[in-house]
Amino acid sequence: MPRPARPRRRVFVTRAIDAAALARLCAAAEVEVWPGELPPPERKLRNALAHADAILSMVTDKIDARLIAEASGLRVISNLAVGVDNIDLDAATRAGIAVGHTPGVLTEATADLAFGLLMATARRIGEGDRHVRAGKWRTWGPMTMLGRDVHSSTLGIVGFGAIGQAMAGRASGFGMRVLYLKHRRGSNDGKIAGARGVNLRRLLEESDYVSIHVPLTATTRHFIGRREFSLMKPGAILINTARGAIVDQAAMLAALKSRRLAGAGLDVTDPEPIAANDPLLRLDNVVITPHIGSASIATRAQMAAIAVGNVQDVFAGRLPRFCANPRVRLRAAQT
Ligand code: DGY
Repeated sequence: MPRPARPRRRVFVTRAIDAAALARLCAAAEVEVWPGELPPPERKLRNALAHADAILSMVTDKIDARLIAEASGLRVISNLAVGVDNIDLDAATRAGIAVGHTPGVLTEATADLAFGLLMATARRIGEGDRHVRAGKWRTWGPMTMLGRDVHSSTLGIVGFGAIGQAMAGRASGFGMRVLYLKHRRGSNDGKIAGARGVNLRRLLEESDYVSIHVPLTATTRHFIGRREFSLMKPGAILINTARGAIVDQAAMLAALKSRRLAGAGLDVTDPEPIAANDPLLRLDNVVITPHIGSASIATRAQMAAIAVGNVQDVFAGRLPRFCANPRVRLRAAQT
């Protein structure tokens, strides 16, 4: 007697992703891709989750405890990102749902963008471009658009994981001195030649540039606030390619207005997208990109391949290879 065919697993993908990765997923499951440029509305997300075995989600999809409680057949949330702050990890773990993510492959692309923002802010590249386009370039000027040196300056790195260390590598190539925030539990001294672990006060007091590379958690929310800005070296520049909410944005605005902070290079804001009338957008010394740290063609294709692999792992009965909640006890598949 032929065995009854196993029902095809259902996957909801919340935005179009790399075609090759998507084709692999479609070969293995019944896939619905949300066609919009904007994220699916909560109503659609809730409905899709209630019927899916897996969701391939983006950082823009808020998957909270309430949605998770209603997703009775869901076995894996595979986030196309290294960060998982858009997902209630504890609720997923309690429900037996694995959470996959995409670490590693986006390290270099994100460090590239962080360093690009540092250069753009220090040397006023965005402002210079706007100046030329506005027809204001009338002559070479000895005092025109003077910026700050990158070489021979000090970079302070908050979060010395893979991306923070990749940033340090770029900085030492530019002749910068590198400090990083030392974790109480240990030291990463020596991992990047010349990088030195220090406490937060010293990092803020001595750095010309401070670059953020920690995940957003309850502990790191508003980690850089009024007090931290007041400790920063006058004229320092802040770079944030991690998550907007790690920085208290109102405190940052005040520091920029008072010129305590000479500039900010931001790939992330709080909220996202930033409101069109946000006062930060009126400041010339702020460079803002729309959360594109990992947005290189090759990196996004690799992220999509990993995110699909994470779904396939769970369909094969194992934890995702890149699992953000490895202690989860995977719930059984619905028959
Ligand atoms: C991440 O991976 O967490 C980024 O913010 C999205 O690329």
